[in-house]
Amino acid sequence: MKVTIVGAGNVGASCAEYIAQKQIASKVVLLDIKEGFAEGKALDLFQTATTLGFNTSITGVTNDYSATAGSNVVVITSGVPRKPGMTREELIGINAGIVKKVSENILKYSPDSMIVVVSNPMDTMTYLALKATGLPKNRIIGMGGALDSSRFKTYLSLALDKPVNDIQGMVIGGHGDTTMIPLPRLASYNGAPVSQFLDKKNLDKVVSDTMVGGATLTKLLGTSAWYAPGASVSYLVDSILNDYKRMIPCSVLLEGEYELNDICIGVPCIIGANGVENIVDLKLNDDEMNLLRNSAEKVKEMNFSLSDIIE
Ligand code: LAC
Repeated sequence: MKVTIVGAGNVGASCAEYIAQKQIASKVVLLDIKEGFAEGKALDLFQTATTLGFNTSITGVTNDYSATAGSNVVVITSGVPRKPGMTREELIGINAGIVKKVSENILKYSPDSMIVVVSNPMDTMTYLALKATGLPKNRIIGMGGALDSSRFKTYLSLALDKPVNDIQGMVIGGHGDTTMIPLPRLASYNGAPVSQFLDKKNLDKVVSDTMVGGATLTKLLGTSAWYAPGASVSYLVDSILNDYKRMIPCSVLLEGEYELNDICIGVPCIIGANGVENIVDLKLNDDEMNLLRNSAEKVKEMNFSLSDIIE
């Protein structure tokens, strides 16, 4: 199995690292526009193979899409990351052109690939990739919900002081500081509702910390995060390539599900060999549905600015 990662920056390199270390694919290709950059990252990573004991090959290329031919999955991380104080939404102008061009180039060489979108603003970039390529909706997957859910579970584990892998939880909605929707009602500590162990004040804090999870890291690091984004992508790619059919919140095209249409936004999906194989109906309560409606409105507003880029 072959995975191409477009963009060899921090997130792209972390994706490559986790996919290779876990031997999720036999080949990883890193592609970047900066001369020699992907080659350097790939070579450095590949030189860890003998000490870490993996057999996945990692190669890097400068803008040569022919090297990506026949990829089963292509991950788009290209574009600029946010700086402290910036919202993901402020990146739209510059990243939209890049994501459109990249997704068109990918399909020339990997016409059957699944596309995972990471570039921000992620929901709008996922919608753009879908419109620009005309691919069926099961093949374009925005990864934000996977990342946001991992942050939610981390903050829950910290608040509960319990092992993080004993925690289940999901974040749906947009991948933005004001659009994401952690779902504490459905979160559990090994099946027991977390509300049994955390009062409202603590739960509210977990929710608000989760929503600004990315911004907190951008402030600390001076650029946006990469380990958790990279790991979330590898988790998604693993579910596709191994047909695990994990339920992962992803940004996908909705056509009536959750009463929404013509929008890519985070909802729980079954992710397998056919990409998005199913959208799970969570039976949200009225408050949760209202949050999702508001989130969708904001994402749609963002999508309007694509009108001069997609016909
Ligand atoms: C984040 C970026 C990758 O949330 O969107 O860290």
